[in-house]
Amino acid sequence: MKIIMLGAPGAGKGTQAKKIAAKYEIPHISTGDIFRANIKNGTELGKKAKTYMDQGLLVPDELVVDLVVDRVQQEDCKNGYVLDGFPRTIPQAESLDAALEKLGEKIDYAVNVEVPDENIINRMGGRRACVGCGATYHVVYNPTKVEGVCDACGEKLILRDDDKPETVQKRLTVYHDQTQPLIDYYKKSGVLRDVDGTVDMDDVFAAIVDILGA
Ligand code: AP5
Ligand code: MG
Repeated sequence: MKIIMLGAPGAGKGTQAKKIAAKYEIPHISTGDIFRANIKNGTELGKKAKTYMDQGLLVPDELVVDLVVDRVQQEDCKNGYVLDGFPRTIPQAESLDAALEKLGEKIDYAVNVEVPDENIINRMGGRRACVGCGATYHVVYNPTKVEGVCDACGEKLILRDDDKPETVQKRLTVYHDQTQPLIDYYKKSGVLRDVDGTVDMDDVFAAIVDILGA
């Protein structure tokens, strides 16, 4: 099963993609996580990506498309995958479709997690990410057992550099301008499924399982 997660920054794409990956035993491919790992490791790609990410801007298409097209052809993707944060522009979606078509494959579902902008700002300020394994928490909605310490690996938690309120606002503007048009793109190809992302995260997941099948 090949799934794309759509939704604004902070809508819960990563939270739900991890649950989908675990339940359906397919890889979770997050371009944001890939860039953050590259930044942490000081790679050339990381250095380039960071200048855009810190401003709330999208990384240029040419830095992301080949990376994802290569990733989805790896052995662990043969039964499917869940893409989180890609595609984010119409050219990215077209490049992905073209690459899949060559392989005789196609996307099965584009799950659009709907959350209004008002809710987003509130969520981002409370998000905490693990420096070790990248697990995501929220100080109110999904707290760790010990404050500031990752439940999964014991490393410390941080506020992401791009979760400052002014950068979140910029990311929302970029989302509406460049990424929201993908909703129509996938509606036209018949794979779009909307879910209400404002409810409890387990209820969001239940709605997604209804769509994907148990
Ligand atoms: P990326 O890492 O993809 O960030 P994003 O899209 O802005 O999304 P987030 O990760 O911020 O939010 P999310 O939807 O995953 O929400 P989460 O589950 O964490 O990208 C970062 C940057 O990298 C981009 O700005 C760009 O520069 C670059 N980039 C990445 N991909 C790119 C691409 N393809 N092209 C170009 N540039 C690219 O949830 C948020 C918080 O809410 C958490 O604290 C969570 O615990 C909480 N929460 C989740 N669900 C609920 C719920 N139902 N109720 C209450 N709280 C909830
Ligand atoms: Mg995410």
